[in-house]
Amino acid sequence: MKNRLLIKLCCIIGAGTVLLFWMIDILSSQAEQSMSSIADEHKQELRDFAKQAEYIYLKQGEAALEVWLDDLREQEKTWIAVAYSDIKPLANSDFTYRYEQGIWLGRSIDWMIHLYFEYNPIMDIPFSDKNTHFLIQLPQRMRPGKYYTYADSAIQFALPLVLLSLLSLVLYQHLMSPLRRLENATKQFSEGNFDVRINASLDSRDDELTALADTFDHMADRTSKLIASQRQMLSDLSHELRTPLTRMDMAVDFLELQLDPKKAADRLRYEAINMRELVEDALTLAYLDTERPKLNNETFDLAELINVICEDSRFEYPKHTLITHLPDQALIKNSSQRALGQGIENVIRNALHYTPTDKNVMVSLSKTDTLYSLVIQDEGQGVPEELLEDIFKPFFRVDKARTLSDAQSELKIGQKRSGFGLGLSLALRQVEAVKGTIKASNYYSADAQKLGLLITIELPCVSAES
Ligand SMILES: Nc1ncnc2c1ncn2[C@@H]1O[C@H](COP(=O)(O)OP(=O)(O)OP(=O)(O)O)[C@@H](O)[C@H]1O
Ligand SMILES: [Mg+2]
Repeated sequence: MKNRLLIKLCCIIGAGTVLLFWMIDILSSQAEQSMSSIADEHKQELRDFAKQAEYIYLKQGEAALEVWLDDLREQEKTWIAVAYSDIKPLANSDFTYRYEQGIWLGRSIDWMIHLYFEYNPIMDIPFSDKNTHFLIQLPQRMRPGKYYTYADSAIQFALPLVLLSLLSLVLYQHLMSPLRRLENATKQFSEGNFDVRINASLDSRDDELTALADTFDHMADRTSKLIASQRQMLSDLSHELRTPLTRMDMAVDFLELQLDPKKAADRLRYEAINMRELVEDALTLAYLDTERPKLNNETFDLAELINVICEDSRFEYPKHTLITHLPDQALIKNSSQRALGQGIENVIRNALHYTPTDKNVMVSLSKTDTLYSLVIQDEGQGVPEELLEDIFKPFFRVDKARTLSDAQSELKIGQKRSGFGLGLSLALRQVEAVKGTIKASNYYSADAQKLGLLITIELPCVSAES
């Protein structure tokens, strides 16, 4: 799925952030609430102070109370007072019931203290008559929330830090685990393990990183196939070169011994020409394989191109009959005349080469809406059904045994050599380079007699430019 990783990250980070803010809010209000009440023993102490003040006032009078209050102030290092609550309304104002019944001068000791105010509030503990009040600014030692600053810092800073670090760790793992696999695979690949692939191990996810793994696998597939085919080609090429080199060695021996030097020189030239042809074909094949050139910049008449190739072939194979069914004109766009010409030529030459002289080869070109279909049909021995795909592989020849004996035999100079098995593999790549397809099949008579080989090349009338 496109952008799946982006959506996943947005959801996780978005939901995580909202959850974090919510947690901070809840935890800090809970911490404030639970830490801002005066401790029970301190409440009791304050109540005892009030009781004692009331006792002294009632039993010993105001002067004794004054002395006792002075001592207590000294002891608690705070402001302390005793007062009546008869606040009289002015200007005929009407006091609400609440004011008349329970006027207070300070805060009740059961109320919470606002921890964010620096000064301590004045606490109000009424005497039994409810009209006299013991007032005391809360002594510092009784102030609640001693650890509130730490708790608040933990909630505001440490908690987000820990949770965001955890979230980052989870996201990091989520992103890094496929990247580590990619790194590992790349390393193994660079060390020569060309079978390594990643995507199978990322089956459970379907995001941008899976696409990256796909791209790696695709690259690994293509590179490993390329390396394998290049290795195979190198080994085939060196094998193919051995025969002409042996013949050249022998020719040099003949020259040194002055045995028929003219024939030996001709042999050297002939083998050199064959070797050059072989090396050139192999190099073209390697170039088409590795470079995958885009051959799509020419517009030309396909019918004319085939006509020219057929004329040349008739000249080269004068004893064969080459029949053509071509339209007057067949314009093809975004293609390559050279590549396509070489590919078609290889196929037509094969048809003539593998068809007995008294038989026919037929070349016909037809057109559908978007495709040209070129059929090259011969009356040769055809190809065994199971080898129809193999004939497009480099250096593949159906009748290798015959070719080997050819190689070992005293091949006459000027005699047509057996092929290298490169013609069709070149044709395949050349046709593919112009976005076409090539297929081989045998065709049969009504009584299932094999009549010959039929090669079909399909070409888009206008190839895509890229
Ligand atoms: N028209 C055909 N009829 C029968 N067999 C064919 C025909 N075309 C190709 N083949 C078989 O396919 C093999 C591969 O063909 P390809 O053109 O690649 O190589 P080649 O003709 O042997 O050599 P090269 O083209 O390199 O000179 C041939 O060796 C031959 O056995
Ligand atoms: Mg050939």
